[in-house]
Amino acid sequence: MFDRIAPTYDLANRVLSMGIDTIWRRKALAAIAPVAEGPALDLCAGTLDLTLELLEHGAPSVDALDFSAEMLAHGRPRLPEGAPVRTLQGDAQDLELPDNTYATGLCGFGLRNVPDNRKALSEVFRVLRPGGRFAVLEFFRPVRSDAKAFHAVFNNVVLPTVGGLISGDRAAYSYLADSMVTYLTRADFEATALDVGFELVSGAELLPPVASLVVLKKPVEATS
Ligand SMILES: C[S@@+](CC[C@H](N)C(=O)[O-])C[C@H]1O[C@@H](n2cnc3c(N)ncnc32)[C@H](O)[C@@H]1O
Repeated sequence: MFDRIAPTYDLANRVLSMGIDTIWRRKALAAIAPVAEGPALDLCAGTLDLTLELLEHGAPSVDALDFSAEMLAHGRPRLPEGAPVRTLQGDAQDLELPDNTYATGLCGFGLRNVPDNRKALSEVFRVLRPGGRFAVLEFFRPVRSDAKAFHAVFNNVVLPTVGGLISGDRAAYSYLADSMVTYLTRADFEATALDVGFELVSGAELLPPVASLVVLKKPVEATS
């Protein structure tokens, strides 16, 4: 599905979020600063929005991993020439990456699409260095009534209509809307991360109340 919507993904994102996603992404970067301390991982990297932010904030190198070859292919031309970025096609649930490697990690709006979040979080835990931070931007299943109301209008009306018009693929944007109501709540997600071994640095809703930012840390004393 992401292969299908890759050509119009960036435009649809900017229109649907009215540019607010750029502010959310900067907040995620601020939460894992400084990123200059070592290699960074952009998980479910898509068209490399967060990879570009990581480079801008001084990451010495970035591994950008995504399931969809087309999303990565549409992102690659956006990179500055010679940028220290590897684009890797792979599954977040089974990372072919070495243990204790990354000083920082990010995942922007990707984990909702990954069937087994526990597996993906365990894999991120494994590849992060002890003390490394992992920031997750996501549309968790809302629990508060105002957030539920906002989600209902946005998911059922705005997302399929606007996303469908821009991409020509209404079904894909209906799937994305459905995936938010069937996903974990932020509390469930945080509980899973704690269970895997992460420390919870922070978890908060962003504005408008559709997206959230969760910041996790691999304990300094962790061994794998
Ligand atoms: C909504 S896009 C987000 C892209 C980008 N991170 C951003 O912030 O715009 C979700 C991405 O997750 C990727 N994805 C879905 N399942 C995945 C998996 N199991 N492993 C790796 N990437 C996956 C999709 O291919 C897609 O590019």
